[in-house]
Amino acid sequence: MNPKRAAVVILISGRGSNLQAIIDEVRAGKLPIELSAVISNHPGAQGLKRAREAGIPTHVVDDREFKTRAEFEHALMQRIDACRPQLVALAGFMRVLSNEFVDHYAGRLINIHPSLLPRFRGLNTHERALQSGATRHGASVHFVTREVDAGPVIIQAAVPVRPDDTPETLAMRVLKEEHRIYPLAIRWFVEDRLNVRDGRVLLDGKQRPEQGLVSLPEAGEA
Ligand code: GRF
Repeated sequence: MNPKRAAVVILISGRGSNLQAIIDEVRAGKLPIELSAVISNHPGAQGLKRAREAGIPTHVVDDREFKTRAEFEHALMQRIDACRPQLVALAGFMRVLSNEFVDHYAGRLINIHPSLLPRFRGLNTHERALQSGATRHGASVHFVTREVDAGPVIIQAAVPVRPDDTPETLAMRVLKEEHRIYPLAIRWFVEDRLNVRDGRVLLDGKQRPEQGLVSLPEAGEA
């Protein structure tokens, strides 16, 4: 334990490749956080294994064991709050969260979404991007607000859509970018460089171009 580092809790449901990218950055000394816990709503989530291998405490709050969403979320909140996190990061956490939950963590709950928000909120983003004929697709890290996938965007990364792409090839290209931008967004957050004004994220007090969206900085800029 390093008490000077910001405590971060990560919520997952499955594979945990974004979790792994975060773990790798912490290990490389590039992300000054304490991963206090990884919590999954599925006992079989592959990400739990990744966390255990990295020596991070893991917990399962199995949503199937609760009669109502409220009961599940209360158990989850208790588990999270026991860690006193500065930040809660959703990394492939496949549950829609209630207003009560979102409000409880307002300003310290972030998510990664595999599209260039506000396009393609919700599920099956890669299929929908291909069907739409988009030539650009990507990923966004955003603050979580009551409306699903609609909170202020912290950072986005875009990739080209190729004519021969399948949802799988496109997903792989996007995922690579997810692994770059999520650790960076977390770093900005714990370094206290982010502010939200009028529903837009400011980095170091400045709004980025492109409708206030923050795009990936050039190498060396961050
Ligand atoms: C990622 O594509 C993320 O954007 C979405 O769910 C997927 C999780 O992948 N929210 P992983 O579990 O991090 O590998």
